[in-house]
Amino acid sequence: MKLLYEGKAKQLFQCENNEEIYIHYKNSATAFNGEKKEEFDKKGILNNTITSFIFEYLERNGIETHFIKKVNDTDQICKHVKIIPLEVITRNIVAGSMAKRYGLEEGMKLKKPIFELSYKNDELNDPLINDDHAIALGIVSEEELSFIKKETEKINELLKKFFLKAGLILVDFKIEFGKTSDGKIILSDEISPDTCRLWDVKTRNKLDKDRFRRNLGSVMDAYEEVLRRITSAWN
Ligand code: TMP
Repeated sequence: MKLLYEGKAKQLFQCENNEEIYIHYKNSATAFNGEKKEEFDKKGILNNTITSFIFEYLERNGIETHFIKKVNDTDQICKHVKIIPLEVITRNIVAGSMAKRYGLEEGMKLKKPIFELSYKNDELNDPLINDDHAIALGIVSEEELSFIKKETEKINELLKKFFLKAGLILVDFKIEFGKTSDGKIILSDEISPDTCRLWDVKTRNKLDKDRFRRNLGSVMDAYEEVLRRITSAWN
């Protein structure tokens, strides 16, 4: 198959049907825009399985996504979309770059979820932008951004419930949207411990990529624990 694009965690291959794309989940983990890098056995399997499970749950609950089917341990077939270059971040609890930027303690519950946008551009290190930037620069129209916001709010509510049933607090997460050939905006990319902060509800132990970013160890044990919990909670 022809490789169309290789990212830090995934490879995208062309399908015979141009409306579809074949996605392979790699074993690489990166942080700080690729500065820190490590290979983990089973990471591809875990993230493909977790993402597939979550996208199926969201589809069942009325969210339109790019996901078509999981084809094997590390691969899935999805609808071919043009990714909108925005990292759409939602925060329920203060952590990560938000704690750092505003000098706040990690773990403070927010009075309302925060919607944040970054311009997806590795060379610029995904700079934070606001709604006006996104519209004025022509990345999305006002209507498209309003749809993305509403959809993201729904996704946050669904995901909070999904993870809580598995004993996990959804602290924050990043999603991406894509446009189909007929101009429809749908949830794309992945949702996994790479793209969410997940804390154990009782101990607040971190079960996500912060274990890698912060050298906390047991990275894949944490991803496995997430998979074990969500499957036993939802099957
Ligand atoms: P941040 O606190 O570092 O801005 O991260 C917010 C959320 O976005 C967190 O759940 C991790 C996720 N994230 C990504 O998925 N990709 C990225 O490149 C970054 C920086 C964060």
